[in-house]
Amino acid sequence: MQNSIIIALDGFAGCGKSSTAKAVAKCMAYRYLDTGAMYRAVTFYFLEKNVNIHEVEAVNNALAQISLNFQDHAEHGLNAMFLNGVCIEHEIRSMRVSDNVSEVSTISAVRSFLVKQQKEIGKGKGLVADGRDVGTVIFPGAELKVFMSASMEARAIRRRAELLAKGSDVSVNQIIENLQKRDAIDTQRADSPLRQAEDAILLDTSDLNFDEQVQKIVDMAQSKIKSIAQKNLRGLLI
Ligand code: DC
Repeated sequence: MQNSIIIALDGFAGCGKSSTAKAVAKCMAYRYLDTGAMYRAVTFYFLEKNVNIHEVEAVNNALAQISLNFQDHAEHGLNAMFLNGVCIEHEIRSMRVSDNVSEVSTISAVRSFLVKQQKEIGKGKGLVADGRDVGTVIFPGAELKVFMSASMEARAIRRRAELLAKGSDVSVNQIIENLQKRDAIDTQRADSPLRQAEDAILLDTSDLNFDEQVQKIVDMAQSKIKSIAQKNLRGLLI
């Protein structure tokens, strides 16, 4: 009986994908993959090293110097992002990185560098992954795909609360400006633009609280696992 699936959560920035995915993974005792953290880590490295992102060779040389992995960290919790052995979980959530990450994620060399690693992490199933192209490119065969959306107001208020909790006081207007810019770049880029996979379920979280949105996805996952088990059983009986 198959009881481990891949759950792909895609959607716009600020819909609460990462925190929801993390909670769903905990409920299901699954692993969690934050694909956005990997784009943020590459962006952080490029900013630190002043890499000219318009020069193909500079980008490729920089990517060759990058080794990424997720590890638990005493201060930054489970699954923190490590770059070349150093925890950068705090740095990658800054507005400086947020302001540059969408542009970096339009670069095909960056995408193929990360997608290869993400597919590798997904081997073995029992995984919740969140991002922009999880259901369309990284795991097109994911058993459950959810596309999360929410009103701009709800997204900005949530993102502000997240940043405040991390000690960063950014105005709602500045956040809205950042989210609108990122939506435009994420949906209009040539390589793997953000879009809802044909077989994804749309989940509008504007009027849901956190526990409700987590529960909805856990319920969807459990009913998917049940239907796969029933299908497998029918296959055995035939
Ligand atoms: O989920 P996030 O806000 O941490 O993602 C940061 C950026 O990374 C987002 O603006 C677009 C990019 N991204 C992507 O292109 N593909 C993914 N699978 C995940 C993130």
